[in-house]
Amino acid sequence: MTSVNTAIQLITREEAERGASARGATCSPALASGPWEYDLAEALAGIPAYGPGASSLDSAPAATPRQGQLPEEYKLASDEELDARILAAKERLGDRAVILGHFYQRDEVVKYADFVGDSFQLANAALTRPDAEAIVFCGVHFMAETADILSTPEQAVILPNLAAGCSMADMADTDSVEECWEQLEELFGTEPDDAGRVPVIPVTYMNSSAALKAFCGRNGGIVCTSSNAKTVLEWAFERGQRVLFFPDQHLGRNTAKALGVPLEQMPMWNPRKELGGNDQQTLLDSRVILWHGFCSVHKRFNVGQIEKARQEYPGVKVIVHPECPMEVVDAADSAGSTDFIKKAIAAATEPTTFAIGTEINMVNRLAAENPQHTIFCLDPVICPCSTMYRIHPGYLAWVLEELVEGRIVNRIAVDDDVQDNAKIALERMLAAKPL
Ligand code: 13P
Ligand code: SF4
Repeated sequence: MTSVNTAIQLITREEAERGASARGATCSPALASGPWEYDLAEALAGIPAYGPGASSLDSAPAATPRQGQLPEEYKLASDEELDARILAAKERLGDRAVILGHFYQRDEVVKYADFVGDSFQLANAALTRPDAEAIVFCGVHFMAETADILSTPEQAVILPNLAAGCSMADMADTDSVEECWEQLEELFGTEPDDAGRVPVIPVTYMNSSAALKAFCGRNGGIVCTSSNAKTVLEWAFERGQRVLFFPDQHLGRNTAKALGVPLEQMPMWNPRKELGGNDQQTLLDSRVILWHGFCSVHKRFNVGQIEKARQEYPGVKVIVHPECPMEVVDAADSAGSTDFIKKAIAAATEPTTFAIGTEINMVNRLAAENPQHTIFCLDPVICPCSTMYRIHPGYLAWVLEELVEGRIVNRIAVDDDVQDNAKIALERMLAAKPL
């Protein structure tokens, strides 16, 4: 099977030759270009954006990191040359550098990773190599921040393209969450009930800034990933009467629903409205207050796609990521983190047809690795996570060759005043094992 990168290039070329628009087969023909093209466009325009393929509804905050220009030699290098240079740099660096790759990275990057995994596994992987001078994180910004917090102060965490952020993580900013917290404290007070449970426990999804992880650490809260969200919510309900869950409303709703929390006890908090747009009684009766955030990649999945898959492939197993909307999770056969999806496929002993609702690079890789099964993405349009996609082999070659020369570029360093509290919330998360 061809990689997503190659598929996008082929589709775009064919469509251009036919003089037609590439829309329909891939979400943006601009993805066929190197990310430096749009990194430069953004730098010139002074307006940060999430790159081609991102939902037009997601506007990047002004503070979103931007990538400086990549030296020309890396933009002009062929795939073969980049491959040779990355391998040579890796060889020279040896144990001095460890490369981590998220499942959503393109194949052209994943092949150089020493560890490939979901965000929980990669947070753990960052702990396993305390002797490495550098952790090169092929993922997105919040993952690199987490690696920096969990690694030793001597280690440098490097994100090959600084513009690899996450639109969902940017949907909750510290000021809005602090403001929400103040309003909740005013309404609920701060005294525990007779069972010793405080009025509210903050839980942040891993996909959030280090500052929000620190907020949770400071306020008796915790971080979760999609693989341990159930364990984390149980942890929180033991200590609190209710949970404030941010930024992903869908992961919060899907997980709490699976634990038996009724929908009417899960109001949504809209940061632009007083009391999040709720009346006092609704908040007093709540068990989980959901922040108004979502992932634009997983929002693309819908029940119609599942119905179509079931019609065309009787007996198909539908597995989706819990960042998908509730109706999609309900209509699927199962839902879980990227690692859950991988393991569910590995557990099938008979040839099976799987329709998967998660990022396309991961789905296509699962299909290539499991030729005994038929595996396809529920969404027929090739659309990778636009920010994960910004990690291109050109950027990887650049950061590795700089390291060989003893220079650290694109370092992600979390402020000291944020580190300690964020680490408290992250260590609670690491202790909450996936179910
Ligand atoms: P995982 O925690 O499953 O790796 O997912 C991370 C992510 O960003 C999903 O969109
Ligand atoms: Fe963020 Fe969604 Fe991309 Fe995951 S898939 S990194 S949540 S935008």
